[in-house]
Order: sequence, then structure tokens, then C-alpha cells
Amino acid sequence: MGSQNLHRGPASGALLAILATGAILAIASPTTAQTPDEPVTFAKHIAPILQRSCQSCHRTGSIAPMSLLTYEEVRPWARSIKQRVEAREMPPWFLDRHVGVQQFKADKSLSDTEITLVSTWVDAGAPMGNPADLPAPLAFDDMTKWNIGEPDWVIPIPEPFVVEAEAADWWGNLVSDSGLTEDRWVKAVETKPTEESFSVVHHAVTTAIDPDGEAAFLNEYALGKNGDIYPDGTGRLLKAGSQIRFNMHYHAVGRRITDRTSVGVTFYPKGVVPERPIYALHIGDNEDLDIPAGESDVRHDGYYHLNDNINLTVFQPHLHNLGTRQCVEAILPDNTVQSINCANWDFGWHIAYNYEDEVAPLLPKGTTLHVVSWHDNSEANRWNDDPRNWAGFGQRSSDDMSFAWLSWYTLDDDEYAAAVASRPSATDNEE
Ligand code: HEC
Repeated sequence: MGSQNLHRGPASGALLAILATGAILAIASPTTAQTPDEPVTFAKHIAPILQRSCQSCHRTGSIAPMSLLTYEEVRPWARSIKQRVEAREMPPWFLDRHVGVQQFKADKSLSDTEITLVSTWVDAGAPMGNPADLPAPLAFDDMTKWNIGEPDWVIPIPEPFVVEAEAADWWGNLVSDSGLTEDRWVKAVETKPTEESFSVVHHAVTTAIDPDGEAAFLNEYALGKNGDIYPDGTGRLLKAGSQIRFNMHYHAVGRRITDRTSVGVTFYPKGVVPERPIYALHIGDNEDLDIPAGESDVRHDGYYHLNDNINLTVFQPHLHNLGTRQCVEAILPDNTVQSINCANWDFGWHIAYNYEDEVAPLLPKGTTLHVVSWHDNSEANRWNDDPRNWAGFGQRSSDDMSFAWLSWYTLDDDEYAAAVASRPSATDNEE
């Protein structure tokens, strides 16, 4: 099995990726990242990084514990910022940068150079520099505005959800009827908290469940993301009588807050069927999980055979508390293996990685998708309730799961050949 790239540590993964593909990877390692010859200052170097990658969450009324808009606000956090940024815990984006495709929509992660700038700045005493170098403050959009435009159909969680001033974090599913009485094709979808509840909704992942009980990932709410507007001619079918499942994570902020998170959808006009339906499926489910008590590095594999040529649009790992990492690779019909992506997993965040259109993986029919997941049932895992317990598959969030949500549309053979030919280089995905 040509799974050389699927190693746990990012570093060994990178090395093996080089060995496996023979390619020269353009990885800027922290040691080679360049910092400017001049002193690194807040005004010139750090403020722009915070604007791009941090401020959507780190400002008053948003979800993060402190605002990082001004020098005065940032300065007391300098040490903590250095630590979180070097550990790649902030901004939350857990994709392994050394395996597979690297261009994503709404990617606010920091480059190695940016991380080095932050470290250098903090080590030098976090100087302000020349205020004249400061970028103009960002003008933030009204958070209550729908980024996809005014939706045709809005489905809220079934009842307002109250988060008391002091409360433990709450994870769970809330299910609403969509109220749809006819099948409709979705052009755009966005999931969003209400005006005062942005601060308590840590995440909201929506899934459509059709009347047959078939579930399909719909959308993931995250600050700094703009909802999904499907490319022209593509869309999702929302069936009459569907339900919407909201997987929520609420986090108390010291005030009593009422939430009514909603999903908004825009439809294609009635009767218009997009040429390319987008499918969202769980792939590589493994329901035979065996995660012994106390073990830190437990691997499981799952497979899915493709009967069609596809253009992959979204990768979202799905594990529960004990999960630590997931990789997806494609075993092509000629038995060569193409890495798609690996992502580390933190139960506190559910991130859907949306491929940039021009690098979205193109995979021919006959491919087998291979999903590899790792769990940590030792006490080192901060999400582990009790490392003395064996863990296995189950539906409760205290049980474990292992699959990847993937979204794609299919292409017939001619379209597939044309799509492959339109890419700048046929080997781009191997980078
Ligand atoms: C998607 C929203 C989001 C983005 C983007 C984000 N943060 Fe955070 N940040 C949070 C949340 C929520 C917490 C509190 C929970 C936690 O610690 O994980 C946090 C915690 C932190 C902490 C720890 C605070 C403490 O109490 O010790 C630091 C430091 C931090 N963020 C820095 C940053 C920096 C620097 C960036 C940009 C490079 C950034 N964050 C981007 C949401 C975000």
C-alpha cells in the first residue's frame, strides 16, 4: 500500500513526501524564512498580519477572548501570541502544510515567514515602531449581513438557545424542519448566528438530512468565512421534507445570551437544474474502531471507490474527542498514490477546507479514496474524559467516529479530460 505520505508528524510527512514523489518541495522551513534587515515593528510588520488573520475573531463582540485591534490591546498578549502562533494553534487552521494541496478559500493561516516575524518582534520587546507605518484600520462588515446576499429561505434552530453567563461548553445537535414542500436546487448557503450571539457560537456545522435519512454536509459557520456560493452551473439538491441538523458548540462569555443560529439558502429559479450537482458524502467510514485504553497513536483506515470522475471541492475531517489527525489520499487506477491532504484535529474546532477552484483535486473514476485517521486515548489528549476506558465507534459525542466529509461534482470523460488539460500543470496537485 503506497501510503508513505500518511505519517503522523508533519516533519516526517514532508520528508517522506519528498522521497516518495522525488519532487523538490518549495517548503519554507522556519530556519530559512527571511526576516527584514530593519527592526520588526508592530506598525509596519505585525499589524497587517493581525488584520488579515486574527481580527475577524479578535475584536469586541466576536468570539475570541480579547481584542487585537490596537497596539495597546495587543502588547500585553505578546508572549501568548508568540506561543500560540508558533504552535500553529492560532489562527485555527490545522491543515498539514507539507502534504497535498495548499490553496484554499478563506485561508487565514500564517506563512513561516509571518510566524518568524511575530517571534522576532516579541523577542525584541514587541516595539511599536513608527505610527506612520500603521495600516488604516479595517472597516468590518456588519456581521448580521448575509454574505451570500438576502437568502430565499432561512431555517433557524428549532428554539432559541440560551447560553447562561456562566456555563460549561455545550456541544450537541439541534434539528429543524426545513419547511420545504418541493425539491429545490441550492445556489448558495450560509450558516450564521444572530446579532448578539456571535460571541457564544464557537462553531455551527449544518447537515441536510433527506426524508430517507440520508445525511449530507451542508455548510460550516466560521468567522472570516463568507458562506458557500457554488460556481455557476453547480448546486446542491435540497429535498422536500428535509431536516437541517445544526451541530453546535456554545461557549459562555459572562453574559446571558440567546442564540437563534440560522442557515440561509439561495435557490436556483424553480425548474432550473444546474448541470453539475454537488454531492457531499461521508467517505471512508470505519465503524469498527478499536481504541485501547491509554494508547496515544491508534490508526484506522477506510476506503471509498469512485465510479465517476470527480472534481473535489471541500475536505472536512470528521472525528470526535479522541481524534488527532486525518489524511486522505487517492489510489489512482494505475495504483499510483496521490496525497490529497492531511489535517490535525482539535475537537474544539470544526473546519471545512474549501479548495481554490484551479487546484481542486481532479480524480478519475476507478480511483479509491483512502482515509486514515488517528486517535489518542492517552491522558495527553486534553479532550479525553477517562484514559482508562476502551473507546469505539458510536453516535454519542463521547463515542468516536472516523470519516471524511468530501464534496464534489462529477465530470463525464470529455469534461474530465478538458478539466485536466485546463490546469496550468498536470502535476500541480503533487506539490
Ligand atoms: C476563527 C477565530 C479566530 C481567529 C481567526 C484567531 N483566533 Fe485567537 N482565539 C480564538 C478563540 C475562540 C480563542 C479562545 C479559545 C482558545 O484559546 O482556543 C482564541 C485564543 C487566542 C489566544 C489565547 C488567549 C488566552 O486567553 O490565553 C491567543 C494568544 C490568540 N488567540 C491569538 C491569535 C492570533 C495572534 C491570531 C491571528 C494570527 C488569532 N488568534 C486568530 C479565535 C480566533
